[in-house]
Amino acid sequence: MSTAVFPGTFDPPTNGHLDVIARASAAFGEVIVAAGVNLSKQRMFEVDERIAMLTEVAAPYPNVRIDTFEGLLVEYCRAQGAGVIVKGLRSAADYDYELQMAQLNHAMTGVDTMFLPTRSENAFISSSWVKEIARLGGEVASFVPPGVHARLLQKL
Ligand code: PNS
Repeated sequence: MSTAVFPGTFDPPTNGHLDVIARASAAFGEVIVAAGVNLSKQRMFEVDERIAMLTEVAAPYPNVRIDTFEGLLVEYCRAQGAGVIVKGLRSAADYDYELQMAQLNHAMTGVDTMFLPTRSENAFISSSWVKEIARLGGEVASFVPPGVHARLLQKL
């Protein structure tokens, strides 16, 4: 059974993340959605909140499980027996950034990366912008799953 890891910060999960989870679930035997902990980024949601939101959005996909990781992603993939990293790509800027990480990750342990091109309706969505718009009182209901939207409103 092929196991793929979909890593990210997921602070919070967006409709774009949900789309990648759904498509990866159809493409691989098992998908591990792995939320990074202790990443240097400024976070809005604690890891347990991110896990709860991911668990909710991934509930329809029986071959998807949610986990956390810290340290090098490639070491986590090795420990999980996962040969593939899955990433969504929204733009050329994403590609430039992700290509280098994919090549470094492959050079370190041979783990490969597969990119899923964003669906056009999600191309402009990012967790960072969702947080900023929500903090400034804007409406983000169409950018995130309903459960995530509810938590964003609670948080603010
Ligand atoms: O959702 P994000 O913030 O784009 O996810 C970034 C993430 C967590 C996938 C990336 O920062 C990562 O892989 N971090 C783990 C540390 C690591 O392996 N660094 C070396 C990358 S070549």
